[in-house]
Amino acid sequence: MRTKYKPWAVQYLSEYFENQFTLENEESIKSLVDFVSSKDTYLEIGPGKGQFILNLAKRYQNINFLVCELNKTISGICLKKIDESDLKNVKLISCDFYKLSEFLKTVKFCGLFLNFSDPRPKKRHTNRRLTSDNFLVEYSKILKNNHYIYFKTDNDKFYEYSKENFERYNWKQIYINEDYKNLDDFDAETEFEMKFKGEGVKIKRLILEKTDATINNVIEEDKN
Ligand SMILES: C[S@@+](CC[C@H](N)C(=O)[O-])C[C@H]1O[C@@H](n2cnc3c(N)ncnc32)[C@H](O)[C@@H]1O
Repeated sequence: MRTKYKPWAVQYLSEYFENQFTLENEESIKSLVDFVSSKDTYLEIGPGKGQFILNLAKRYQNINFLVCELNKTISGICLKKIDESDLKNVKLISCDFYKLSEFLKTVKFCGLFLNFSDPRPKKRHTNRRLTSDNFLVEYSKILKNNHYIYFKTDNDKFYEYSKENFERYNWKQIYINEDYKNLDDFDAETEFEMKFKGEGVKIKRLILEKTDATINNVIEEDKN
């Protein structure tokens, strides 16, 4: 689903920095690192308009939440909602997660959320899937040991691909539900989830634990 370019949202993103970090500014990068290090912090990659993270941030105000959103229009909409919420424990950074990960070498998160990530079905886009090899390696570097990735999707093929890849990289599967209806305590409905549930699509959910066995470098393909 494409979001139409909204000039007001892109403008908003360029003007308001109370709850936003940017990679363009060294002070801001330092503030980001401080935010993540100062408390237990969870990261959502691809939050969309922020319904999920604002719900969690409101209920768990002793925890910090960071969202990383690639699309500028969506980031602007999400940032405005964060600003209007008056919550102090949720911040946004608008960039590709892969770029952000270069700046996260000194910090560790308590959990990562991947909610209804773009399935990117075309073979030539495999590397852009948020559960492809390079991303899984980055996640293993920024997540604390014995902490979790929380993954939800509507898409069967993307689900199968992701599940297999998590297995390949030795992420321990501690929860699996292929018809997830009743939300766990540490969860909230996303915009896409509401839409798909309304259409009767089954939601698939996995929780994956990072352990000592989790592989943190890209597995080279067997050439034989
Ligand atoms: C299908 S939407 C789902 C939005 C929301 N999580 C939900 O469930 O309603 C996926 C979002 O991920 C963002 N995204 C995709 N690749 C990303 C990346 N590499 N880094 C950050 N955000 C990304 C997209 O811009 C989009 O807003």
